Amino acid sequence: MITQLLNPNSRLIQPTTSGIEAAALALSASQLVAFPTETVYGLGANANNDKAVASIYFAKGRPTFNPLIVHIPSIESALQFVKIDDRAHNLLSTFSPGALSLVLPRRSDSPLSLLVSAGLDTVAIRIPAHPIAQALLNACQLPIAAPSANTSGAVSPTTALHVLNGWPDPANEGPSLVIDGANCAIGLESTVLDLTTPTVTLLRPGGVSLEDIETAIGPIAISTNDDTAPRSPGMLARHYAPNTPIRLNAKTVSKHEIFLGFGQSGPKTEYNLSPTGDLIEAAANLFAVLRQLDDLNALSIAVAPIPLTGIGLAINDRLTRATSTIHE
Ligand code: TXA
Ligand code: MG
Repeated sequence: MITQLLNPNSRLIQPTTSGIEAAALALSASQLVAFPTETVYGLGANANNDKAVASIYFAKGRPTFNPLIVHIPSIESALQFVKIDDRAHNLLSTFSPGALSLVLPRRSDSPLSLLVSAGLDTVAIRIPAHPIAQALLNACQLPIAAPSANTSGAVSPTTALHVLNGWPDPANEGPSLVIDGANCAIGLESTVLDLTTPTVTLLRPGGVSLEDIETAIGPIAISTNDDTAPRSPGMLARHYAPNTPIRLNAKTVSKHEIFLGFGQSGPKTEYNLSPTGDLIEAAANLFAVLRQLDDLNALSIAVAPIPLTGIGLAINDRLTRATSTIHE
């Protein structure tokens, strides 16, 4: 825990009963609260309130055509917001609570702010497993709209300190409170599935693997991320980007580059996503290591090949977006 490193007026609060109550009160008062989930930290707001949801877009500098994930505590609580068919029920029963977000048709009588849907007639919902996220949802009794708690286009935060660093001036439009939940166990964002299409479509690879989803429900379609008309509007090619250029599938390193290893192959390096070649460990380390390397002011980062299996698909997806030259 890092409270003692920061001044007493800091926005950082501990996940005690009184801390969670304070965070729930802040959400009810339309303020932004950053909180941990098992994937990454979210920048939360009362999803029923237009002003609160609008302040998320403002704080992140997020394009207003990019809809938000609504966090809810349980399957039952989803019923008032979205239409849940058998496919959705099956997926939610198998993978929730957890790192899965489902895009579903919005109910016409849904109390959610229209801004969470950014003009679409759908809503993405997620039931997070993290006990602090669950405690917050239960304390505030509100659906919480929450994108990753970083400014738009930056690397997602996996610690409370990453969140605070994103809005260094407390007087600025960032979260009024940040709940300290240490490191996120998964370390990259949830898998996003579109259930409004005849075949379930993977919009974003993430914490739940494609293999596990296909084992549960059979083959699914994979969205091609066309930047001119993104199916998942947040999936613009350049996203999750550190400032330093990145070269992928590197087997060698040149002298102006820093090598980021995976496993034992490739040039010797002090930076390795997982020395044992464990993809789960690599995912958990990815964003923190990218931030660390960015701070070294190297000209370029060369990253070792990472297998495309399991969560490796999501790791490669985030790295590919970090290398793209198309800007959001
Ligand atoms: O792990 C996560 O998913 C984190 C934690 C905080 O839950 N949240 C997160 O949110 O990564 P964000 O806003 O950074 O990414 C949400 C993604 C975006 O690509 C967005 O376009 C897509 O989900 N999305 C949200 N609602 C959608 C909708 N109705 N239709 C299509 N895509 C949607
Ligand atoms: Mg994000």
